[in-house]
Amino acid sequence: MRGTIVKGSLLFVTIVLLLSMTGIPAFAAEVTKFGELSSDEFTDADRCGQCHAIIYADWEGTMHFNAYLDPFYLEEVKVASEDTDGLVDEFCSRCHTPIGVTSGEIPPIDGSQMSEIAKHGVQCDFCHVVSGSNGTGNAPFIVTPGDTKWGPFDDSRSAFHGSEYLELYTRSEYCGMCHQVIHPVNGLVIDDTYSTWKESQYGDDNVACQDCHMTEGITEFEANPGRAGSGAPKRDHISSHDIVGGNAFIPPMFGADNVAEMAVERLQRAATVEVKTPEMAASGEEVIIEASITNSGAGHSIPTGVSEIRQIWVEMIVTDSEGNEIYTAGTLDEDGTIEGEKLIYNNVLGNSEGNATESFWLADRVLEDNRIGPKETVTEEHNFTVPDDVAYPLTVKATLNYRSAPQELIDKLMGEDTEVPVIAMNEISATIYDPATPPEERTTESTPGFGILATSMALVIMMYLFRR
Ligand code: HEC
Ligand code: HEC
Ligand code: HEC
Ligand code: HEC
Ligand code: HEC
Repeated sequence: MRGTIVKGSLLFVTIVLLLSMTGIPAFAAEVTKFGELSSDEFTDADRCGQCHAIIYADWEGTMHFNAYLDPFYLEEVKVASEDTDGLVDEFCSRCHTPIGVTSGEIPPIDGSQMSEIAKHGVQCDFCHVVSGSNGTGNAPFIVTPGDTKWGPFDDSRSAFHGSEYLELYTRSEYCGMCHQVIHPVNGLVIDDTYSTWKESQYGDDNVACQDCHMTEGITEFEANPGRAGSGAPKRDHISSHDIVGGNAFIPPMFGADNVAEMAVERLQRAATVEVKTPEMAASGEEVIIEASITNSGAGHSIPTGVSEIRQIWVEMIVTDSEGNEIYTAGTLDEDGTIEGEKLIYNNVLGNSEGNATESFWLADRVLEDNRIGPKETVTEEHNFTVPDDVAYPLTVKATLNYRSAPQELIDKLMGEDTEVPVIAMNEISATIYDPATPPEERTTESTPGFGILATSMALVIMMYLFRR
């Protein structure tokens, strides 16, 4: 008997070793399924906040905090559920209310069976009881609620809970569980934030999501020394939990204007714009303006996430010296529709009839991918003819704009009183002169955008302080 057991285990060990050499996981870990847990096994974030006050304040009002109560999400999931006869109910809820799904409280999609704690979205005692995962995409998390909290420290001690180190927390694969969405029926990749990151230079250099989204660095890691909780030791780096993206639309509805401000700041660090114009142009002449946009700061495409809904575009306005508009593109009409549809940088998904749809649950193909990849530069062209009797010089102003969703979609879902904010990510202007202007009266340099302005302002302040 003993011999058989030993031989059996030897064979087993050999198989596991062989499998691990081929890279095939020996144990495809079982992800936590619908209804496997109960919501009373989770602890409310308020309790965690008693000792982790700064972390709690960071998280409060962010899109993780709002992931379920977000009214835009709630309206969309209602439509998705109706469109698919409830087929997507569990799928959508798994990322937006992971406690709701693992404790079997949702579906029903109307939320009628949900506990209070499940409504608090992606929260402390969900994220820190992730004890493993089965890869990335469609939320393959393994959660073990209870005394142990998993995290990035291997020497952490708390009077309230056990602590366990798990490397996953410091890696993009942690975020990639949810920030990679694949259509459950036809396999279409709907959100490719993780895979785009992985294939980029950032993935090669291992600049993780956490480096940009959980430090003040925004576009790179920046250490933030401090204490992770009351009575905790001082450490070289504590991660901030104000994990923001570009969403300045929803947080103010929860009173979190500070989160919206951080989102604006982040958007303004994501990209740069440049314009190339002729230095002078005579009446009747055709002018070509080239606007180039570079995704200089994001570790994934801009936009990313629900990029079939997000909109990035250039608003181009050329005026003469009396303020008359000579050329415009990408301006909003009174209904909030962007003029010149072709200039929108986002992802256009199509349904089985080949028609464009923002309802990604109905999509089975990509019709057009106009997003700007990490470190990529795209160039668009604008042209117009200089009118007669124009008052020189002409001012060219290009603004790179971001909007969380088309106004038409929000009007339909949330009523016409809800305005989606348009955020200027960057702007630049240039001047076009009358060919008759003598060269010494022309300033050819274009005005830099926010990023460069901030740097030059910092220099001016530093010079001022230095001279004092
Ligand atoms: C979206 C998931 C997520 C949520 C929500 C979240 N955390 Fe974290 N937390 C992380 C990750 C990931 C790290 C490690 C980041 C790193 O080291 O790169 C972390 C780190 C920590 C740490 C270690 C100290 C530090 O800041 O580095 C503590 C303590 C902590 N979190 C507590 C909390 C508390 C309390 C809440 C709720 C107020 C919370 N977390 C919400 C994912 C999350
Ligand atoms: C009684 C105070 C207290 C409460 C309540 C508390 N913690 Fe902690 N926690 C601490 C202290 C102290 C540390 C040690 C921090 C360090 O090592 O720097 C810590 C560490 C952590 C860590 C880091 C673990 C690691 O190994 O990286 C995480 C994650 C964490 N807490 C999450 C939570 C969550 C989630 C809750 C709510 C369910 C919570 N804490 C409630 C005091 C508390
Ligand atoms: C359990 C799933 C889950 C995990 C794990 C997770 N997220 Fe999220 N995250 C979400 C959901 C859901 C939303 C969006 C909620 C909404 O918009 O209604 C979100 C929102 C965000 C946003 C805000 C996006 C915006 O438009 O402003 C950022 C940034 C973000 N997550 C980054 C991260 C990072 C970085 C990590 C890893 C440390 C991470 N997330 C881990 C589910 C998750
Ligand atoms: C090099 C820094 C950097 C890295 C690495 C990075 N991000 Fe971002 N992220 C940004 C910036 C800057 C923005 C703002 C631009 C935007 O919203 O598109 C952003 C925006 C976002 C948004 C909002 C997207 C939108 O367009 O509405 C999400 C979600 C997000 N990041 C998640 C992630 C996840 C998940 C990872 C890791 C797989 C990651 N980020 C890695 C810098 C970074
Ligand atoms: C694998 C995880 C996952 C699944 C499944 C998922 N989502 Fe999301 N959802 C996210 C993340 C992450 C974001 C944030 C991305 C960003 O900010 O661009 C998000 C954002 C959204 C937003 C934008 C909210 C806002 O305020 O801008 C809507 C709407 C949404 N999801 C609806 C749905 C619906 C409907 C389904 C089911 C058909 C679904 N989601 C399934 C992870 C998921």
